[in-house]
Amino acid sequence: MKKTVAVIGLGNRGTEYMGFIKAFHASEVSVHALCDIRQQALDDVAPKYGVPEERQFLSPEAFFAQGVLADALLITTQDKSHYAIAKQAILTGYKLILLEKPVSGVKREYEELRTLAAENKVLLIVCHVLRYSNYYRKIKEIIASGQIGEIVSINHTENVGYFHFAHSFVRGNWRDENTSAPSILAKCCHDLDLIAWFMDTPCVSVSSVGELGYFRKENAPAGAAPTCLGGCRAKKNCPYDAERLYIKDPFYKAKFIKYMKRTLTGKAKNSRRDVMNALKNGEYGKCIFLNDNNVCDHQFVTMTFKNGATAVLEMNAFSDKMFRQSHIVGTKGELIGYGTKLKMHIFGGKTTAVHTLSPNVGGHVEGDIRLIDRFVKILCGKTADLTDVTTIEATTASHDIALAAEESRKKGGAPVTPGNG
Ligand SMILES: NC(=O)c1ccc[n+]([C@@H]2O[C@H](COP(=O)([O-])OP(=O)(O)OC[C@H]3O[C@@H](n4cnc5c(N)ncnc54)[C@H](O)[C@@H]3O)[C@@H](O)[C@H]2O)c1
Repeated sequence: MKKTVAVIGLGNRGTEYMGFIKAFHASEVSVHALCDIRQQALDDVAPKYGVPEERQFLSPEAFFAQGVLADALLITTQDKSHYAIAKQAILTGYKLILLEKPVSGVKREYEELRTLAAENKVLLIVCHVLRYSNYYRKIKEIIASGQIGEIVSINHTENVGYFHFAHSFVRGNWRDENTSAPSILAKCCHDLDLIAWFMDTPCVSVSSVGELGYFRKENAPAGAAPTCLGGCRAKKNCPYDAERLYIKDPFYKAKFIKYMKRTLTGKAKNSRRDVMNALKNGEYGKCIFLNDNNVCDHQFVTMTFKNGATAVLEMNAFSDKMFRQSHIVGTKGELIGYGTKLKMHIFGGKTTAVHTLSPNVGGHVEGDIRLIDRFVKILCGKTADLTDVTTIEATTASHDIALAAEESRKKGGAPVTPGNG
């Protein structure tokens, strides 16, 4: 018999994961129940998965009132709702839960979920998708093999991409830390998770500097208007002009613009007119200098680990492309990763281009698709091996480091011990 999943939160992430289930696992898993606070989202998604009205819910309260509706639950709502929904899911009796990151920006909350999951024998998996990509798994494998010796330091950069940062962290859902999370947690808990995973020893000290430097009122050019389509006289030379980003530029043709348009319009199927309306009247047409955003656009985090190894993470809005860079230095060699290209230099020995077997068809270097693959294997009882699975126990270190980084940044870079907050 097929296993079933229920999904709360039918936006970009939820529909992407459901799409993978339908495309690659339809013979063993079906989508059984859906919940979103927007009727439009239910109307867009339910017919695709044949979910009848009686298993569509407009609030988590109504959803949980029905008891356990499926073998597993996906929680893909926005950041601030994760804790309450995950807690209710555990208390309702779900035993396998896939929860989007960040778990919470409050240590007490993610620790409570961790404890509740353990007490109730729930497998609570956090969507740190990068750990599932062949590229990052290969890095982990090389480190574990000892080929580059003991890790001395890691220098890792998250180049967010100027257009992506503007979309998500200046205009979009992650622009205000009070309604989402500081960007170092919202954007970089993945990177911190990778660093902690590669180091495989506790982080004992964190310091951080950074700020919201550019996307501020003081930097608005002469002639700027509150919206790009509302009489802005500076738009011709502005790379962030919303019309240019969403309608005219290559950004519009990029793979993930499909998701962006859904976010802009709130509809899965949207016309050019819908997009123009959204730009005229919604958040995504607002001037990047005159908005109410407050999250950092660049930040450095330095970390010291228990064995003395050190790491630096740079988060930066200002890159032409979205990609990550890593320089992992060991006592016997180094790994240099640029995007998805990986090279290994063994000191006094060979330089090798490392093939990760990942063609990078998208979705976090294929991490998204591989996370769902692993999740389905666990759901269907095809594997009991939880090695490197991003359980809540395995991933709270990333959140501890992010919270410590924010605390340090606010204290002018003073060292903070992660996990004490
Ligand atoms: N793992 C990753 O790599 C990754 C990447 C991007 C985003 N995310 C995270 O995934 C989550 C979802 O992001 P998204 O881009 O899909 O957002 P989204 O806004 O596209 O989707 C969220 C959906 O949840 C619904 N929703 C909001 N509150 C709800 C509630 N209380 N109950 C039921 N439904 C509710 C919204 O109506 C919307 O349809 C966020 O927390 C985000 O930070 C993770």
